[in-house]
Amino acid sequence: MNTATLETGGAPRAAPKQPMGKMDSAAKFWDKVAERYAKSPVADEAAYRKKLDVTRGYLRPDMDVLELGCGTGSTAIVHAPHVKHIRAVDISSGMLAIAKRKAEAANIDNITFEQSTIDDLEVADGSVDVVLALSLLHLLEDRDVAIARVHKMLKPGGVFVTSTACLGETMGWFRYVGPVGKFFRVIPLVRVFSPDDLKQSFIRAGFAIDYDWQPRKGKAVFIVAKKNETLSG
Ligand SMILES: C[S@@+](CC[C@H](N)C(=O)[O-])C[C@H]1O[C@@H](n2cnc3c(N)ncnc32)[C@H](O)[C@@H]1O
Repeated sequence: MNTATLETGGAPRAAPKQPMGKMDSAAKFWDKVAERYAKSPVADEAAYRKKLDVTRGYLRPDMDVLELGCGTGSTAIVHAPHVKHIRAVDISSGMLAIAKRKAEAANIDNITFEQSTIDDLEVADGSVDVVLALSLLHLLEDRDVAIARVHKMLKPGGVFVTSTACLGETMGWFRYVGPVGKFFRVIPLVRVFSPDDLKQSFIRAGFAIDYDWQPRKGKAVFIVAKKNETLSG
């Protein structure tokens, strides 16, 4: 596991699809770095453990989980024994190939890996118990659109577990440097926003923040956002 980062979204609420060219270039970027990403150590092992433990507290054996941007599958493999099924989705075939290899080696057979962008993924409204998105929201063109979609796909009372680099807090300058790096294809699209911007995105989508933790300033913000228990939520 590793981490890259993202920016603020702002406006479009009408789910414009990310142009295919942009998605292709994101997939190519992650394909290229997949093997290196798989070998790189977790940046903060204690924080990662804590996030896994907190997530585990929300899981039940009868649950259907969807992981968006599953990468090389490390997190799905840890949680799989505690739920009914995990649908693990990623845009990168390179990342998914490694994830499948690791799941097989761990004898895990209740994860279905699938190559898709979040935009193209078909998920019935109100059908999922838990959605995971770790080190992903900052990499999306419009996090508000994605968060609103996740809210729709969750069952009432369902949770959206996220860990997100919020560069606006300590690295606001990155919003000027990032596009240059992206142009030269050395980094992917990275949005720059603050922890508060991120929390407001969840609230705008109708979520309540159930758990909120940041190991320290500048580190990824871990949020468990909960959909209202009532059907209207
Ligand atoms: C920083 S990695 C995080 C991987 C994993 N969640 C982790 O914590 O190690 C971001 C992952 O999101 C995937 N990704 C980026 N944009 C995506 C999109 N629009 N739809 C689906 N996956 C995407 C990338 O291919 C990559 O595997």
